[in-house]
Amino acid sequence: MGTLLPAVRTGKPAYHEAFGRGFWEDLEAHPDIAARFDELMGVPGHGVPDWQIIINPADWESVRTVVDVGGGTGALLAEILRARPAVCGTLVDQPQTVARSPEVFEAAGVTHRVTTVGQSFFDTLPHGGDVYVLKNVLDDWPDSEATAILKRCAEAARPNGRVVVFTGAGPGEDASPGLLMLVLVGGKERTFDEFRALADEAGLIVSAVGQQKSGRVLVECRPV
Ligand SMILES: C[S@@+](CC[C@H](N)C(=O)[O-])C[C@H]1O[C@@H](n2cnc3c(N)ncnc32)[C@H](O)[C@@H]1O
Repeated sequence: MGTLLPAVRTGKPAYHEAFGRGFWEDLEAHPDIAARFDELMGVPGHGVPDWQIIINPADWESVRTVVDVGGGTGALLAEILRARPAVCGTLVDQPQTVARSPEVFEAAGVTHRVTTVGQSFFDTLPHGGDVYVLKNVLDDWPDSEATAILKRCAEAARPNGRVVVFTGAGPGEDASPGLLMLVLVGGKERTFDEFRALADEAGLIVSAVGQQKSGRVLVECRPV
């Protein structure tokens, strides 16, 4: 509790203050906890993800490759590939996390259409994809890092490709205070306007806004 107030004042994660290293570094150092975190992010904890990530369903006809950036162990990508047999996918996440993905893709029967890449999303991303997905990723990071991740996606997307971001709030909606994100990782939920400012900085322009059946807000962006 003693670290909450400084976190709110400075925007720096209380987790680091309390445990002496960052949340993601801690997961890397504790594979057993990291495995439980991945599991929580995957199917058992959060239900089957909704594969419908393209706002205008007719646009799927032109999509051949989806890159899920920070995609965990692949639960969303597996559902997308199961629903769209003509699509191939690339999963990008930390090496120890992608190493836990094969059983997810095998269970979905899509292994032959998947490439897994264990790397940081702050480094150059696999190039030339039609769609780059960021689900529950940007909220984990302060503005400078969130912009860097968006920039990597903008640079990697093929001309006329798109970056699809799950955001906390649509136009005119309030963002939730996101205290957990602040305390754990120094991140935050953003309003639509705050997100649009980051996208702009990263060389992306918002081209469409929509919602999944659950109400999750999706924002499609295109490289400028
Ligand atoms: C909140 S989870 C979201 C996972 C997945 N997109 C979902 O919605 O279930 C954030 C993900 O970012 C990954 N991550 C954190 N830092 C990363 C980095 N530097 N490079 C690549 N992935 C990273 C974590 O391993 C984790 O899988």
